[in-house]
Amino acid sequence: MTGPTSPSPYPLGLRLDGRRVVVVGGGAVATRRVPALLDAGADVLLVSPELTPALRAHVDAGRLHWEPRRFTPGDLDGAWLVQVAVDDRTAAAAVSAAAAERRIFCVRADDRTAASAWTPAVTRHGPVTVAVLGGGDPRRAMGVRDAIRALLGRKGPPLTPAVEEGTPVDTGGRVALVGSGPGDPELITVKGWRLLTEAEVVVADRLVPGLLLDEMRPDVELVDASKIPYGPSRAQEEINRILVDRARAGKVVVRLKGGDPYVFGRGGEELLACAEAGVPVTVVPGVTSAIAVPEVAGVPVTHRGVAHEFTVVSGHLAPDAPASLVRWDALAGLRGTLVILMGLKNLAAISATLIAHGKPADTPAAVIQEGTTSAQRTLRSTLGAVAADVEAAALRPPAIVVVGDVVHALTPA
Ligand SMILES: C[S@@+](CC[C@H](N)C(=O)[O-])C[C@H]1O[C@@H](n2cnc3c(N)ncnc32)[C@H](O)[C@@H]1O
Repeated sequence: MTGPTSPSPYPLGLRLDGRRVVVVGGGAVATRRVPALLDAGADVLLVSPELTPALRAHVDAGRLHWEPRRFTPGDLDGAWLVQVAVDDRTAAAAVSAAAAERRIFCVRADDRTAASAWTPAVTRHGPVTVAVLGGGDPRRAMGVRDAIRALLGRKGPPLTPAVEEGTPVDTGGRVALVGSGPGDPELITVKGWRLLTEAEVVVADRLVPGLLLDEMRPDVELVDASKIPYGPSRAQEEINRILVDRARAGKVVVRLKGGDPYVFGRGGEELLACAEAGVPVTVVPGVTSAIAVPEVAGVPVTHRGVAHEFTVVSGHLAPDAPASLVRWDALAGLRGTLVILMGLKNLAAISATLIAHGKPADTPAAVIQEGTTSAQRTLRSTLGAVAADVEAAALRPPAIVVVGDVVHALTPA
């Protein structure tokens, strides 16, 4: 037990690569804690009858093992650490007891005094991790952490909003649509980061970097607005309603969206919904995956003497779908770079259509999966072969397809 007179905790940096960590619970706390465990390379076993959509996305992507049931002590066999992320104190105490019996450190979200390990407030700067323990007071730890973060230069000066719409309401509530960047948590803008640290409610998409959520204060309400294809989803109207309701209740709301909010992100609809409801709304641009993901894979979207234009299109609809707004026949005639988002499912039809309208089958093509993250994969091919190559390599979304001579612009001949 720890208390005012108990000794100080002993700080450690756990090297979890390949080591089993058990997380008990599948709600908001687990959603925040799991990304940092995965980032540390832990072999995560999640035990919970239910999961949030964000956790389910980790399961679907094969990043962690999930046991869809309640905890049993045998779950701790072979574990180095356990994180209890359930509200039910009796259930949490049972996990603690099983952990103590096996000499496994146990972090408890429900009761810090009953835990044998505490998670610090963290700020990460490249290879440097600063972890702060506040003597049992998480708010003190976060205050010190925020001051250190500011010193280390991640917190920028207060900036004027780029876009303000709507008639201000006197509750003080407001919404910021913030682009989180393409995946690397350090690619959020200084302004986006500052607003995130000020938020009382964060409504996050599936593609936002998990480590950004890990650094949020525990009292921040996290709403998971994941729109997983063919999986659980919340309708856009529901998201709009949550933004407006929370702001009207006086909350500072950040709508955190992957990449840039206005690039296939439905940010415009959310801005209009807030403006129509009289809620002040700010847009903070983000680094879009359309440019950044090819870039980190060594593909510049333009290059002197190679491409004087680039076109970004969505491939979520097949070229012959009646609802498609894309002139694939016209795109086939362009000389520049074609960047296709959400195009994996329809890649065979898209490449066949481009070739049928005159684009040479030997035009270089590249596909980059999960760009800017530690899971990034890159495949280089040609327009004629890319669909088959993607299938053979089992690439999966999120991925970006780039077609054009820029694919080899930076690779030695
Ligand atoms: C709904 S769109 C949102 C795009 C986002 N607003 C942006 O500006 O990057 C989602 C698509 O973006 C692409 N995407 C986003 N992040 C990516 C990443 N890290 N690696 C590869 N593709 C990514 C994929 O094509 C994915 O299906």
